Amino acid sequence: MATDTLPNAAGIIGAAVPRIDGPLKTTGTARYAVDHDFPGLAHAVAVQSTIASGRIRKLDASTAEKMPGVLLVFHHGNMEKVYRLFPHQDDATTSEARPPFEDENIYYWGQYVAVVVAETLEQAKAAANAIRIEYDADKPNLNPDLSDFAGPRQSSWRRGDPDKALAAAPVTIDQTYITPVETHNPMEMHGTVAVWEGDSVTLYESSQGVINHRIVMAEVLGIPRENVRVISRFIGSGFGGKLFPWPQSTMAAAAARKLNRPVKLSVDRRMMFSNVGHRPHTEQHIRLGATTDGKLTAIRHDFLSQTSLNDDFVEHCGEQTPFLYSCPNLEVTTGMVRRNVGAPAPMRGPGAVPGLFALESAMDELAVKLKMDPLELRLKNDADRDEGKNLPFSSRHLKECYTTGAEKIGWKQRTHEPGSMHRNGKVIGLGLAGASWAAARVPCTATVELCPDGRVCVRCATQDIGTGTYTIFAQVVHAKTGVPLDRIDVFLGDSSLPEGPTSGGSMATSAVLPATTSAVNSAVNRLLNIAALTPKSPFHGMKPEALAFTNGMIHPKSEAQVVGAALHSGSQFTANGVPFEEVLKLANLSGITATGKTSPSFEDPKAKAYSLHSYGAHFAEVEWEPEIAHLRVSRIFSIFDCGRIINQKAGTNQILGAAVMGVGMALFEGTHYDQRTGQPINGNFADYLVATCADLPDLDVTFLDYPDYIVNEYGARGIGEIGMAGVAPAITAAVYHATGVRVRELPVRIEHLLQSKVLES
Ligand code: MOS
Repeated sequence: MATDTLPNAAGIIGAAVPRIDGPLKTTGTARYAVDHDFPGLAHAVAVQSTIASGRIRKLDASTAEKMPGVLLVFHHGNMEKVYRLFPHQDDATTSEARPPFEDENIYYWGQYVAVVVAETLEQAKAAANAIRIEYDADKPNLNPDLSDFAGPRQSSWRRGDPDKALAAAPVTIDQTYITPVETHNPMEMHGTVAVWEGDSVTLYESSQGVINHRIVMAEVLGIPRENVRVISRFIGSGFGGKLFPWPQSTMAAAAARKLNRPVKLSVDRRMMFSNVGHRPHTEQHIRLGATTDGKLTAIRHDFLSQTSLNDDFVEHCGEQTPFLYSCPNLEVTTGMVRRNVGAPAPMRGPGAVPGLFALESAMDELAVKLKMDPLELRLKNDADRDEGKNLPFSSRHLKECYTTGAEKIGWKQRTHEPGSMHRNGKVIGLGLAGASWAAARVPCTATVELCPDGRVCVRCATQDIGTGTYTIFAQVVHAKTGVPLDRIDVFLGDSSLPEGPTSGGSMATSAVLPATTSAVNSAVNRLLNIAALTPKSPFHGMKPEALAFTNGMIHPKSEAQVVGAALHSGSQFTANGVPFEEVLKLANLSGITATGKTSPSFEDPKAKAYSLHSYGAHFAEVEWEPEIAHLRVSRIFSIFDCGRIINQKAGTNQILGAAVMGVGMALFEGTHYDQRTGQPINGNFADYLVATCADLPDLDVTFLDYPDYIVNEYGARGIGEIGMAGVAPAITAAVYHATGVRVRELPVRIEHLLQSKVLES
């Protein structure tokens, strides 16, 4: 639907609308998973393995079981029956296939080996400390060098003959890029409150997918799906770590069932580093071949992704490689290397973020070797169709991202040699990198209800992980009805609502828009019909087509309404219509509800004929003080082509937050395991460094805002993850430009920079 056919109040689509749930969060009214309390609630504390490989020889809970307040200790010797999820089940995904306490085997440090439930948290903690465990420990494999990989490799993309082209190429790059384990650290940690009522359980969770969570837990607990309800109304972010259930949910549910009491189990910050996923360590071998004037002739991207012993999570680093550049000869291969670590998980921009660190770093190295401007190299090799899938792009404006960013940062003034630019006594480095992320329209069902109190309710079992999903629903309803935002109630984060999408893959917004639009349009049509059919209605006898609904008022189409009344005022009826709740009253209706659905793009022949992706570019500036080996990221300009932006404020927040995470990835983050014990040795916020306010550059976000109508009628793609892609390679390119040091293993450390020969400013 084109903008000009959207009805009244349509200006709210694309506006910078503050989050409607903001006040609930800032006033502490919003209740997160473990904020829930119930009469008789018991507290659970998990016990973790202190070895990373081996077996439990003896677990003695006898002292713990006799301690004050202790209600239950579960371990492999007495765990009540729970099941595995059927492997490769197509409508549900879990994080760890092995249910908690399935046997005596230990696969990683921190693996849950017991859970203690007591009347109080303190009693549970004390008893957890009193459990004695003897292990038969094997030597764990935590080798940070993945070169012991013995195969097999999978080739996911191939075209032309890359090896022959590399051999023939006059200019080549052949380098390996390494990214460390990075740990999701959302502000809100994982946790579960499990409440049984007969054979049914309600789980209060911090989940990015309440529907998926419900299906998984039904299978694991061995009960029908309709007997599981998952509630996740507010989430203190997730970054992908909360897409799929973790064992604590099973432990809490099983304990609550056994005790017939509500049970609360929180994952603490230390456990966040071992038990609820991470972005895995990757080693990526990139080979590029090019002509002397900078045209790519070959790309090889052969990567290894570390994973756990029991699960097969792979960081798909090569997803963007086949279509980002035009190149006739290409291959992407994947290898999986097992280590004694917990299961990895998707983390913001999985695959693309480490993958583009490697590819874009190699492109920067190629530009240096060619003595060519890295911007020029990008523009020269830009693709005008997806050469991987051999499909046209639905909408791609990557070149404009580059040229806009270049303009903003003043790229023209950039000089080629490392250490050649100065400002205020500091050496300046400028670097850039591109970004991409897939788009799709996933299925969604939503209902819209016109309520007798003049409010409008929207319901969908998706959830808002902090990105602004609540607000998107309200914007659509406001755009279509004119009912002010403060009279729109959005209900999300409850698996009993109409089935909605997981908040993942940057696909929630594009999924909820069509369903909500269709639901609200149907509800309004029904309302106008009722207005025309109800004997006491002032519109009785008129044709429904002759009626319109503007600013929450029904009126004859012929009598124009004042549109665009203040968005946030409670009762700004501006004209001569009848409030819809009056008509509901006259018709004696408790409300009018309509359902809308989003059809998935993978079933849409039109969408399947295109390569659907978002694009972007980051331009980074660093300041380098060689005398004291001090590096600081001073500016980042982020220019993104993510389709039409529905909410400028929430959208900008996504790219800003992602750029902040990207600074962390470039300069600070990395989880390190003790080689002897397998314990994450920096598993806390003092030693695992993330970018803080003091580390941040000036950040500047620009959206090109080209609608992509192949994805949906609003032209919106997604923006949650792409902003993190390209930040680290833009920064390391800038670091090279300032210092002459090429960092191929993240994060950039002072040890790397001490090799800099750029000594004077
Ligand atoms: Mo995203 S890593 O799918 O939450």
